[in-house]
Amino acid sequence: MEQDFSFVRRMYFPTMVFQVEVPDPTELNNKLLSNIYSERERDQKGISRSNIPELGGWHSHNDLHKSNDYADLVNLISQATGKMSDNLGYADSHHVRIGTMWSIINPPGSANRAHVHPGCLWSGVYYIQAPEKCGQIEFIEPRTVHLMNQAKFQPNKKRNKENWTKVRFTPKAGRMLIFPSWLYHAVDPNLTTEKGDAANRVIISFNLNQVKKPK
Ligand SMILES: [Fe+2]
Repeated sequence: MEQDFSFVRRMYFPTMVFQVEVPDPTELNNKLLSNIYSERERDQKGISRSNIPELGGWHSHNDLHKSNDYADLVNLISQATGKMSDNLGYADSHHVRIGTMWSIINPPGSANRAHVHPGCLWSGVYYIQAPEKCGQIEFIEPRTVHLMNQAKFQPNKKRNKENWTKVRFTPKAGRMLIFPSWLYHAVDPNLTTEKGDAANRVIISFNLNQVKKPK
C-alpha cells in the first residue's frame, strides 16, 4: 500500500531578469546610433573591457549618461528602474540610478567574453541595432550547482526552466534587459550576413546602484 503524504516543491533564490520592450524605437535608436558613431569617431580606440579590440569590437568610455545626447535613453532607463524598484519592494527613500553607461559596437566576427559587473547592484543592456544572427547574450547558471554532479534528464524532452544551466536572449532593437550585476554573461560572435554599418551589433550597457533620494 502506498503511504499517503503531502509533497510540495518550494522555490527560493531565483535569478531575475527584467525585460523591457519599446514598441516603436526607430526615432530613439536612430538618434542614439548617430551619437554613438560620432563618439567612436572622436575616440576611435575606445577602452578595453569584455570587447575584443583585435576583432574590431569597440567599447566607449563609461560616462555616456552624463551627456545630454543620451538623455532620452537615461529617461527610459529611469522609468524602467522605477517599475523594477516597485516590483522588488525597494525602499522609497532610495532610487535606482545609473553609475556608468557605455556603448559597444560589435562588427561581424566580434564577441564579448564572459564577465560580471563588480561594484553595482543591477546591470542592463539596451539594443539599438541588432541584425539577424548578430550574437545572442548568454546568461550562465550562477550557483555552485554547476561544479557538482550533473543530473540526467529525460532525453528528447525540453528541461523545465528551473533546471536550465544557461539562458539566451536574442537581441532586438528596442529591447532592454536588466539583470543582477553578479550574473555571468557573454555575447556570441556577430555572424550577420549584412554589410557595412548595417552589420554592426550596437548596444548601450549600464550599471545601476541604489542611491538615496535628495530631500
Ligand atoms: Fe556585461
